[in-house]
Amino acid sequence: MQKILVTGGLGYIGSHTVVELQNTGFEVIIIDNLSNSSLDVIEGITNITKSSPVFVKLDLRFKKDVEQFFDQHNDIEGIIHFAASKSVGESIENPLLYYENNLNTLIYLLKECKKHRINNLIFSSSCTVYGEPDSLPITEDAPVKKAISPYGNTKQISEEIISDMCSVSELKSISLRYFNPIGAHSSAEIGELPIGVPQNLVPFITQTAVGLRDYLSIFGNDYPTPDGTCIRDYIHVVDLAKAHVVALQRLLINKMNIPLEIFNVGTGRGCSVLEIVNAFEKVTDQKLNYKIVDRRSGDVVAVYADIQKANEILGWKSERTMEEALSSAWKWEQKIRNL
Ligand code: NAD
Ligand code: UD1
Repeated sequence: MQKILVTGGLGYIGSHTVVELQNTGFEVIIIDNLSNSSLDVIEGITNITKSSPVFVKLDLRFKKDVEQFFDQHNDIEGIIHFAASKSVGESIENPLLYYENNLNTLIYLLKECKKHRINNLIFSSSCTVYGEPDSLPITEDAPVKKAISPYGNTKQISEEIISDMCSVSELKSISLRYFNPIGAHSSAEIGELPIGVPQNLVPFITQTAVGLRDYLSIFGNDYPTPDGTCIRDYIHVVDLAKAHVVALQRLLINKMNIPLEIFNVGTGRGCSVLEIVNAFEKVTDQKLNYKIVDRRSGDVVAVYADIQKANEILGWKSERTMEEALSSAWKWEQKIRNL
């Protein structure tokens, strides 16, 4: 069995990816500092896969600990690097936290990759690198625009750091630019665990439906879109997790065309905020309290992925519907609230 290191493997996307990796036959070792996750996630993963990943509690900001980890684990064949801080608003308030956590951790990992000849790296990037797109759907060739937040900037800089390292070493890497992941595992054993007030749409909806929030604020209905609300590409987190497995397999069998390949990971379908709200009401058979409020600063009008490249080169496309994703998110919310 090939051993894969998953950093941030107890987080939202990481945990779903660990499940898919273990179900495909990979041996997984997780590093996480539990800053945005909990140990219970290991139980969830184990219940689904009937196999427990190895877990090492470690903060990747501590270089010596990272070095020691790699000195003790010399049989790692690939790394999927999820560990990062991800709140756009927090990154504007505390940029150094983001530059430190999202860049130093990558740099320390890359040093160890070079030293230990680990040449396969998958990086969690984001559609945020495109900013407000000039045309839709967005292809991977679209220009990377000046980032609107330190968080977005860390994703752009990380891709550049990886690209530079691919030029001067044996490193091969795939950067996956995620669109908007939503939903949970169908078993409701794992899902998203936002700390505090959720910033993202779907966790806010499920927390409103469960009674934790009075109403959902819809940020603007005067955008130039068919119903006036913003458009995004919402992808089921299990489909996103599966994209990591095929990308990893491509790296491991050395089928890369160039040392750093970049793929959009979305559904290719744009969906408005109101469409999400209506679909949620339909799949859960209940009314959701919402109010239209002012636009949120920094929101782009519409983004959705061109998925042809991932489809043709990775042989991957999303399979689950937005309704399935919303239904699984609801099931998960009810489970964690003991309903
Ligand atoms: P998450 O917060 O649920 O998971 C990240 C995990 O990394 C957490 O378990 C956290 O405890 C851990 N972590 C953070 N800093 C660490 C450190 N210094 N050392 C060790 N562990 C650390 O986030 P997620 O939604 O699963 O996102 C995973 C990755 O995907 C991140 O890089 C994020 O920027 C990126 N991404 C997420 C989205 C999204 O909407 N969720 C979209 C685009 C890109
Ligand atoms: C967020 C991140 C972005 C990341 C992307 C993918 C921000 C500003 N951006 O983008 O960096 O790449 O996720 O995961 O956080 N909405 C409401 N009410 C709410 C919450 C959201 O109306 O309470 C609307 C937003 O205006 C937006 C849509 O829902 O139109 C989706 O919002 P959100 O889930 O926060 O994701 P993004 O803004 O796309």
